[in-house]
Amino acid sequence: MKPGAKLVRHYLQFRDFRAEEYAYLFERAAIIKTRFKNYEKYTPLFDRTLAMIFEKASTRTRVSFEAGMYQMGGSVVNLTTGDSQLGRAEPVEDTARVISRMVDLVMIRTFEQRKLERFAAHSRVPVINGLTNEYHPCQILADLFTYIEHRGNPWSQPLEGLKGKVVAWVGDGNNMAHTWLQAAEVLGFKVRVSTPGGYGIDPAVAGVKDAGCYQVFANPLDACRGAHLVTTDVWTSMGYEAENEARLKAFADWCVDRDMMAVAQPDALFMHCLPAHRGEEVEAEVIDGPQSVVWDEAENRMHVQKALMEYLLLGRIG
Ligand code: CP
Ligand code: NVA
Repeated sequence: MKPGAKLVRHYLQFRDFRAEEYAYLFERAAIIKTRFKNYEKYTPLFDRTLAMIFEKASTRTRVSFEAGMYQMGGSVVNLTTGDSQLGRAEPVEDTARVISRMVDLVMIRTFEQRKLERFAAHSRVPVINGLTNEYHPCQILADLFTYIEHRGNPWSQPLEGLKGKVVAWVGDGNNMAHTWLQAAEVLGFKVRVSTPGGYGIDPAVAGVKDAGCYQVFANPLDACRGAHLVTTDVWTSMGYEAENEARLKAFADWCVDRDMMAVAQPDALFMHCLPAHRGEEVEAEVIDGPQSVVWDEAENRMHVQKALMEYLLLGRIG
């Protein structure tokens, strides 16, 4: 870094923030959500611009960031691989240098985490991970907020509601699973993971130092026993479509069903980052049933990301 250069904070993986920063973000997201529900205008980012780069498809991430930025008074520029020079092999470093001279914040959804890191290393402005092959921190931010909202303590002590809790992860050892592990380590809860053989989590990717924050189970039913939250994701993530046929066979027993929910805590919640495939990773009766909070979870993407953008651009408020 050049002498006098400003240190730029990025949000590239969950462990980039400390527990006390998450406590602040959850409390702040609750305030921002209440204002939104009351139709109170709140436009602190009126002179700021967010660039979004999508190298993979999206519904929730696109709408939640775009609507959230406009609601906070800012503007949004949307780029995809196909309609930008990224698709014609302009180096990601050059793209970062250029874009970050024109906007205040960048959100990227791409393949390798390394590409996101290369962009961030050459960006003058904060960069947010909107999903990579390895991690999906904005989703877990929303999931934890949703858990606290449904089962937690007052917003003045948001992390208290997560203490001692057990999250069951059933399915692929993917970007979501690795991010859950990081969240467990940062915030002090436990994850019970069950994946089919050959599709397990990679501790090196998760990068957790405390092996005590997660436990691996061969049988998904055992992972769900006593869990406060049961969660899953698609069997085939974006970028892995060529493996779809093999995955359909390997994952057949990793469908979250009523039996799995029955062995969890009686008041356990079900979450799914969406999009979902009913009849594959989750039974329709579970995702559309009374323990499912998937629609709140999706909506909360917008509220937590508004708090995240405000924090990265303006720091702590009040
Ligand atoms: N959960 C999530 O990130 O959804 P999208 O792929 O629709 O953005
Ligand atoms: N694991 C999924 C999440 C989609 C939001 C994927 O990467 O495709």
